[in-house]
Amino acid sequence: MSSGPKRQSDFLLWKLPRGFFYVAILMTCAALIPPALIIRARSTPRDSRRIHLIQNMDNQPKYKGQQQNILFRDNRAMRQPVPGTVARSQMVGDTHFHLGTVDGSYATTYPSQVTVDMDLLKRGQERFGIYCLPCHGAIGEGDGPVHNRAMMLLNLAPSVSNGTTWVQPKNLREEAIASQSVGQLFFTISNGKNNMAGYAAQIPVADRWAIVAYVQALQVAGDASNESVPGADSLPEHRIVMDEDVTEAEVDEDKEGNGS
Ligand code: HEC
Repeated sequence: MSSGPKRQSDFLLWKLPRGFFYVAILMTCAALIPPALIIRARSTPRDSRRIHLIQNMDNQPKYKGQQQNILFRDNRAMRQPVPGTVARSQMVGDTHFHLGTVDGSYATTYPSQVTVDMDLLKRGQERFGIYCLPCHGAIGEGDGPVHNRAMMLLNLAPSVSNGTTWVQPKNLREEAIASQSVGQLFFTISNGKNNMAGYAAQIPVADRWAIVAYVQALQVAGDASNESVPGADSLPEHRIVMDEDVTEAEVDEDKEGNGS
């Protein structure tokens, strides 16, 4: 006979009355019945509708495609469009003004409704400032505040950027875009391109043409030489701010030199 303290299990499990185990087994089996019923109900197809306690207007009387409706003389529930209706994107009239295309290719000229003058450029500059500058930057070089902010976030810890990527807005003055026709620029603004969304919903047609004109003005200005500006010969050769820039750089250099 072994002496000494008995193990805890000897007391807890094996000394309970027998009936307790039978009741526990029965109750476990009983507890499995409701989930089994639910699983069965969800997995067997049935003709009758499911029990749908909270309706939330899920079922309501309505006509579906190809059904009859005796309210109309032709008994069709599906109605024809009102005569003269033009669906969006199905307009066949003035494609030059509205789509920027002529005979299926990008227009190379401004449409007759648009007069390219200083007023149009001013309008374009203002609209560009609202809709394009945030990404493409004030002079269209693809370095707007949205871009800078995105780069800042991407440079933070990977947990913050969370795998997000960012496509830099295009430099609108680079050759590939400066060589595009006005129709293509208009088309890009209207419908977007690759990662850029279209702005047809926000910017009315005439304003889109104004922006096209301003983008072209930016492109011309980027490559401008003295000859492009009337009376430029009378201007000084260098920008006056240059001197200031140089002094600042020199000061910085000096500081570094002293420190090391
Ligand atoms: C939300 C940022 C954003 C705004 C706002 C935005 N763009 Fe862009 N844009 C982009 C990005 C990004 C690209 C490069 C898309 C790509 O190639 O994936 C791009 C590309 C372009 C291109 C080059 C298309 C080509 O042929 O490759 C043009 C032109 C352009 N944008 C003009 C504009 C104009 C004009 C506006 C204002 C109406 C504008 N964008 C507004 C982000 C923007």
